[in-house]
Amino acid sequence: MFQGPLSESILKRAQERGLAEIRVHDLRTWTHDRHRTADDAPYGGGAGMVMKPEPVFEAVEALGRTSGSRIVVLSAQGTRFNQRLAAELAEASHLLLICGRYEGLDDRIPTGLGALEVSIGDYVLTGGEIPAIVLLDAIIRLIPGVLGDADSAASDSFTTGLLEHPHYTRPPVYRGMAVPEILLSGDHQAVARWRRKEALRRTRIRRPDLLAGAELDQRDRELLAEIEAEEPGSGRAGEQRG
Ligand SMILES: C[S@@+](CC[C@H](N)C(=O)[O-])C[C@H]1O[C@@H](n2cnc3c(N)ncnc32)[C@H](O)[C@@H]1O
Repeated sequence: MFQGPLSESILKRAQERGLAEIRVHDLRTWTHDRHRTADDAPYGGGAGMVMKPEPVFEAVEALGRTSGSRIVVLSAQGTRFNQRLAAELAEASHLLLICGRYEGLDDRIPTGLGALEVSIGDYVLTGGEIPAIVLLDAIIRLIPGVLGDADSAASDSFTTGLLEHPHYTRPPVYRGMAVPEILLSGDHQAVARWRRKEALRRTRIRRPDLLAGAELDQRDRELLAEIEAEEPGSGRAGEQRG
C-alpha cells in the first residue's frame, strides 16, 4: 500500500535527497506465535477483531524514540488533521505513525504510548495506511528544501489562514472563458492585490469559518469591503469589478 505513493514524484525525491527517510514496518515482526497473530476478539463480544497491544508496544520499543519523536495513531476518532498540525508534525525529528485495521487498536495503545490520535476526516476507512500516506505527503512537503519553489508552500491554502487565490495558465481565452485581464497586465503590484482579494473572496464564499479566524490587516478589511460591495444585492454590484 505504501510503495506507490512513496516512490513517486516529490516524496520520492525527498527521500533520494536525504530530506526524509521513511521506513514501513510490519507489526507481525513483533508477534511470537506460529500464526504471527496481531489481532484478537474484542472483550465484551461483538463483531470484528481488535489489534493486540503487545506487537505495537514492542515495535515502538524496538524502533526507539528520542526527545524529538512524536507518536501518532491514525484513528477516525482522533483530532482532525489540518495544515497547522502538518506544520507542527513537520518539526519533529522522528515520527512514528501507527495504522489500525479491523475494529481498530486496543485502547491501551494510544493511552500507554502517549500518542496523538489523528483523523483525516469524518468517514471510516478500512485501515490507517491511506491516512498515514496522507499525513506523510502533507508533512514532507513542508520540510525545508523538499519543494522546488520555496514560496509555493507559503501561499498555499490554509498556510495563510485563507484559501489560495485561483490560478490560470495559457491560453488567455479557452472555450469563451477569459483569464482575468489583470493577470496579463505585467503589473506585479496590481496582480498581488488581485490575488489577495480573490483569496479573501474565495474564502468568504467557500469557507467563512476560516475567514472568521484569519489574521486580517487594514488592507484586507478594505478589500473585503470592496468584495461585499460587489456582491449582488449590495446595490453597488459590478461597480468595482476588473
Ligand atoms: C475500520 S477502521 C476502525 C473504525 C473504528 N471501529 C471506529 O468506529 O472508530 C480501522 C482503522 O482504519 C483507520 N482509520 C479509519 N478511518 C480513519 C480516519 N478517518 N482517519 C484516520 N484513520 C482512520 C484507523 O487506523 C482505524 O483503526
